[in-house]
Formats: sequence, structure tokens, C-alpha cells
Amino acid sequence: MTGRTGDRIAAGPDGRPLAEQPPWRRDFPVDTAEENYVARRDFTKFLVLTSAAFVTGQFAILFGELSRRNRPAPGAVAIVSAANLPVGGAKAFAYPGEHDTCLLVRVDETNFVAFSQECTHLSCAVIPQPEQKRFFCPCHDGSFDLETGRPIAGPPQRPLPRVNLEIRDGVVYATGIELRTL
Ligand code: FES
Repeated sequence: MTGRTGDRIAAGPDGRPLAEQPPWRRDFPVDTAEENYVARRDFTKFLVLTSAAFVTGQFAILFGELSRRNRPAPGAVAIVSAANLPVGGAKAFAYPGEHDTCLLVRVDETNFVAFSQECTHLSCAVIPQPEQKRFFCPCHDGSFDLETGRPIAGPPQRPLPRVNLEIRDGVVYATGIELRTL
């Protein structure tokens, strides 16, 4: 049975009016219906706060990505002397920022490729495996084609950002980075 006293809901779980309830229940007057209402209100509050945190996080990621895209390229940065990197060899370097790790791989005598080391799935570091013609991501077994950076296996859907290269006087330079969606 449920009744109302002013704004307060008075309900005994056994259905008897509050006056007939045992003394301990009057000392601890937690009303079941009211308790459910508070629980729902708390749950709604939790949902709203969680959603707000999620949306804020998405905006932070978007803002970070946009500011990264709009950051001016630092110009040509020397990576390595071509003579010091054998065919099938790889070298890590920072580009365009000091915390942006990229990988340079010598594919054959005349060709070099370079990509960001950050997996486009969940940002783990990819590992060059030239003998298998791929960059491998050990986090979820993702793979990218060694020469194009395109995803070929596992969960990644987007290619690795490609670093543009130039060879001048026998030195390999990074000259820009392409963020690609396909
Ligand atoms: S983070 Fe690379 S496959 Fe998941």
C-alpha cells in the first residue's frame, strides 16, 4: 500500500500504513519507492555525466588531430645516409614532431619508403618486417603493406601516414607527411 504525507511517499513494504510499522522502521524511514526513484535519478545522472565525458573526449581527439594536421611541416629533415642503410634495413626517426616516431625502410637498391610508426587502429607501434613485405602491429595482429602502408590484415582500416622522402647528396630526407584516409 502506498500513501503520501506532504511531499514524502509513505509506503511499508508489507503494505501496512506507517503508523502500524515496527518502531525500527520509523527510526530508519527508507521508503522503497523513494529509494528506487533516487536510484533512477542517480543512474540518469551517471548516464549524462558518462555521455558528457565521452563527447568531451571525442572533441579532444578531434581537436588534437586537427591541430596536428594544421601544424606546419618542419621542412626537410635528414634521416640517414643512404650508404648506411642496407637493403631490407629499417631506421626509426622523429618526424614531423620530436614525439612522432616514423620508420624508414630500404626496399631495394634505389627505393626507400617511410611511414608513421603509429598503427591506425589503436596507435600501437608497428614493426617493420621487410622479409614479409609488411609492417606488423603486435597488439591485434594488424598488418600494413610495406611499400604502400595500406592495411592488408587485421583490424586497421586506414593506411599509415606516409612520409615524403628526397635523396640529396646521398642523404635521405623527410620532406613532408601525408595523412591519408584511403
Ligand atoms: S593497435 Fe594495431 S592492430 Fe590494433
